Amino acid sequence: MPGPRGEAEKSKDFGKAIKRVIKELKNFRVMAIIAVLIAAISSVVSIMVPNMLSNLTDKIAEGLRMDMDFNAIWSMTIMIALFQIGSAIAGVVEGFLMTDVSNRFAQELRDRISEKINRLPLKFFDKNQTGDTLSRVTNDVDTIAQSLNESLSTIVAAIALFIGVVIMMFVTNWVMALTAIISGFVGFFFVSIVLKKSQKYFTARQKELGNINSHIEEIYSGLNVVKAYNGQKEADKEFDRLNQKVYDANRKSQFLSGLMPPMMMFIGNLGYVAVCVVGALLVMNDAITFGTIVAFIIYVRMFTSPLTQIAQSLNYLQSCAAASERVFEFLDEAEMPEQHPTQVLERDKVRGMIEFRHVKFGYDENKLIIKDFSALAKSGQKIAIVGPTGAGKTTMVNLLMRFYEINSGSIYIDGVPISELSRENVRSLFTMVLQDTWLFAGTVRDNIVYNRKGVSDEQVWNVCDRVGLSHFVKTLPKGLDSDITESESVSAGQRQLITIARGMVEDAPFLILDEATSNVDTRTEELVQKAMDKLMHGRTSFIIAHRLSTIKNADLILVMKDGNIVETGKHDELIKKNGFYAELYNSQFQIS
Ligand SMILES: Nc1ncnc2c1ncn2[C@@H]1O[C@H](COP(=O)(O)OP(=O)(O)OP(=O)(O)O)[C@@H](O)[C@H]1O
Ligand SMILES: [Mg+2]
Repeated sequence: MPGPRGEAEKSKDFGKAIKRVIKELKNFRVMAIIAVLIAAISSVVSIMVPNMLSNLTDKIAEGLRMDMDFNAIWSMTIMIALFQIGSAIAGVVEGFLMTDVSNRFAQELRDRISEKINRLPLKFFDKNQTGDTLSRVTNDVDTIAQSLNESLSTIVAAIALFIGVVIMMFVTNWVMALTAIISGFVGFFFVSIVLKKSQKYFTARQKELGNINSHIEEIYSGLNVVKAYNGQKEADKEFDRLNQKVYDANRKSQFLSGLMPPMMMFIGNLGYVAVCVVGALLVMNDAITFGTIVAFIIYVRMFTSPLTQIAQSLNYLQSCAAASERVFEFLDEAEMPEQHPTQVLERDKVRGMIEFRHVKFGYDENKLIIKDFSALAKSGQKIAIVGPTGAGKTTMVNLLMRFYEINSGSIYIDGVPISELSRENVRSLFTMVLQDTWLFAGTVRDNIVYNRKGVSDEQVWNVCDRVGLSHFVKTLPKGLDSDITESESVSAGQRQLITIARGMVEDAPFLILDEATSNVDTRTEELVQKAMDKLMHGRTSFIIAHRLSTIKNADLILVMKDGNIVETGKHDELIKKNGFYAELYNSQFQIS
């Protein structure tokens, strides 16, 4: 039976996935079991109702012939009413418990995923698409919660009801029981044919919806490019095509699912007719009482509805299994190796020496990017790393910050191998400003102060002055309190200045600038450069820059090519040497 989501995404191993979900329910298992028990008991109890109604009917029928026994009728009616009220209350309690269990479980899963993201190595994110990971946090967890809520207690209650009804029917009268069951199955046979057909369209609908969504996302995120290349017409055409497909799939699947209610009605009515006809024959032969027919009319309904519910719940469980497989696959991903830091370097006690010794590294184990990197940065020095695109400059920064683990060799800070420090410790020692600016939704102030406590407005303005951001901030309607929500409202250069200001507030003993000023004009760059030079004063800094004019005053220039250092020295020495650096430097001046 198609649920609200239509499809039932198939899981790889249904049984295993469901077992895992039950295992992971841990803290909520007791509550879930209580909910399931309430549902089961309430459905078993409800099986008594038809019998009571049957007795009541017989009593009334008897009363019509002789004296009405109002007392008996009255007490029977009250009993039936109490049963119904009790079962309604049980339903409410069960629904409440189950909703609570499934939503708390979803909340816990979301927590676990978010914590997991922090423990995964960056390598994982190189290999996996962000969208995929995000969809696990949102859609899949949602599916699990919803499908658990809809299926777990329902399926148990439905099975209990089904078995109970069958037993009760046979206990009451086996001929009538067979009549009800056979007519029920004939109806189901028809329905299952329609279902089989509609399943196909529901899957198609899901697929087409996915297609149109990714098309919209693609166009939306690249709207400027689409417009610049006059690609609207093509995009529109493609959209129309996909839209038409969604329409077709939707129409077919909804038409078929619209057929369901009348068909279910048909099955029910088929059962009533059969039960009434056979029942009438039996009453005439005095084999049963009139009340038995009344009981069976209810039994027929009680017998078909759990079957529908079981089918529906199985479908929900199937979605639950498929979604949980994806979520747990993510939660089972290999994490970064456990840390056993044996040393601690405190920020204010760091002297500022960094040494690379025969560092070898490749993002892919088999393909070395950094082949043999050795260098020494003395306390307070300004070290420039230069080299052509793809030489491995950013990679060196990644290794220094311990975003990736090196294959062999070692990196020392003040003589301590960074492998003996915790990653958090290493990162706390560095201020890093990158070419890829990262601003989050929040005020300008939030973006500058990020994660630092006790920074006064005066300090923030001071920093803004130093990077030449003050003018821009003052033109904003609310100054430092202006929201940066639409990325469009801040230019690439301004974004970069904000991240530089953030780096200045951070104020760590080491500084890393990776193409930090590539997006600002030369005059601003000069301003930032001056501010940076002040900031670098007394700090060991690593500067990566394509514009070599900006690193002329470095204490040491490391020239990289294909993962190796090919030349080292000061600017003048390297120019005199007339090697690779001189070639790079001169080529820039010929262009400009
Ligand atoms: N996350 C990654 N996974 C796999 N390979 C990578 C990854 N990042 C970089 N590389 C590869 O490593 C090599 C060095 O890249 P790196 O980013 O260090 O170059 P770079 O010197 O900083 O270049 P640019 O000047 O363009 O920034 C490149 O060949 C690149 O393809
Ligand atoms: Mg780079």
